[in-house]
Amino acid sequence: MKANLTATLTDNETGKTYQLPIMHGATGPRLVDVRKLYGESGMFTYDPGFTSTGSCQSKITYIDGEQGILLHRGYDIADLAEQSDFMEVAYLLMKGELPNKAQKAKFVNDITMHTMVHEQISTFYRGFRRDAHPMAVCCGVVGALSAFYHDSLDINDPHQRMVASYRLVAKMPTIAAMAYKYSIGQPFVYPRNDLSYAANFLRMMFSVPAAEYEINPVFERAMDRILMLHADHEQNASTSTVRLAGSSGANPFACIAAGIASLWGPSHGGANEAVLNMLVEIGDKKNISTFLSRVKDKNDHTRLMGFGHRVYKNFDPRAKVMRRTCHEVLTALGVHSDPLLELAMEMEEIALKDEYFISKKLYPNVDFYSGIIFRALGIPTSMFTVLFAVARTVGWISQWNEMIEDPDQKIGRPRQMYTGATARDFKPMHLRA
Ligand code: SDX
Repeated sequence: MKANLTATLTDNETGKTYQLPIMHGATGPRLVDVRKLYGESGMFTYDPGFTSTGSCQSKITYIDGEQGILLHRGYDIADLAEQSDFMEVAYLLMKGELPNKAQKAKFVNDITMHTMVHEQISTFYRGFRRDAHPMAVCCGVVGALSAFYHDSLDINDPHQRMVASYRLVAKMPTIAAMAYKYSIGQPFVYPRNDLSYAANFLRMMFSVPAAEYEINPVFERAMDRILMLHADHEQNASTSTVRLAGSSGANPFACIAAGIASLWGPSHGGANEAVLNMLVEIGDKKNISTFLSRVKDKNDHTRLMGFGHRVYKNFDPRAKVMRRTCHEVLTALGVHSDPLLELAMEMEEIALKDEYFISKKLYPNVDFYSGIIFRALGIPTSMFTVLFAVARTVGWISQWNEMIEDPDQKIGRPRQMYTGATARDFKPMHLRA
């Protein structure tokens, strides 16, 4: 990191100037270090939504929004999606390097050995209504894990952090599938140690005791790729939520539950569910222009879900891989025309030529096509964001561990611009209007 370069801030109200160090990462935008600004100037910075704010240093994921580049520990997402698998990407994100053969075998075995949940947890589900949203169930159940695994709550013990991390990565598919089974009144399905992470999830979701369940290798590969594409994404809203919760010393299960809650929002991970609902609502290509007119109408708050991104002002590289996977899965299923995929592709083609989207640099993001694949795999719409959470748990836990190990980290405590009433005397009831 280059030292001694500064940015000068001149306060025209007081005539004072301040030298703020300029920081350089390995790549990406330079940063102005404002940590001492308030102490020296009495001024805060103001950045709601953190559009120009770096919250931490990280080595995990790099995004170039202008170029549409996504790297995990330096490896391009397209290369990983094509040549790697979710367990390798999990190892890479958690430990910093791709595993060799022996390391991968041990990691996969360690994760596999943690896929079951405490039997008492299955009764936890019975407290929910059958029609509870699976994200609500997962929020509750993951948070409750801290009540079961007391031997992996000490965040200052690296071994306990590792055990908690493995437990979370391993158990999320089981917890997610149990939420689905509970919602449809079918019995829970236990994980199997002879299956891959993706195959285990599919079997826990769709097998029933009354029949053998055959893993479709195309589905298994597609699911594994979808998990890779959703694994981590720098300091997005839910990852920042996990880091902020973790900065207070909260246990890892509580932090991941907080991440699930944040991911649920339709502006974030809930967008995949919203995209499918939007496509179903539009229904036919002839309705696209009317829908897009609503999107462009300032007075109408309709958004083209699955489009736009805070960082990507070009194609989300994950959307490209997702669209390709869409075609692969549908072809493998012998589905030569899927009306929702046709509709989505027509919508994308029209939007990408429309001045409104071009001027605002709105492109398809990871959520635009994912729902179509999920639907083709038989995943119900209400489970789309749960799947996102299963994958993102690897990223969340990697970022959480990095934060705990960061010597610079301290409790996150932003300030504000106060615009309310200034000090005033109390008004007793008889003087109030
Ligand atoms: C994810 O951060 C991450 O990395 C997230 C994620 C990850 O992997 O963790 O990539 C996953 O959350 C992807 C995004 C999924 N969300 C959606 O698809 C929902 C639809 N998209 C948006 O609501 C929006 O694009 C956001 C939330 C994704 C980004 O919002 P920003 O960066 O705050 O941008 P903005 O809302 O200020 O929009 C800028 C302008 C606005 O117009 P003006 O007020 O300037 O006139 O673009 C418009 C917006 O109205 N706009 C859209 C739009 N997205 C932005 N207009 C129509 N349709 C859209 N989808």
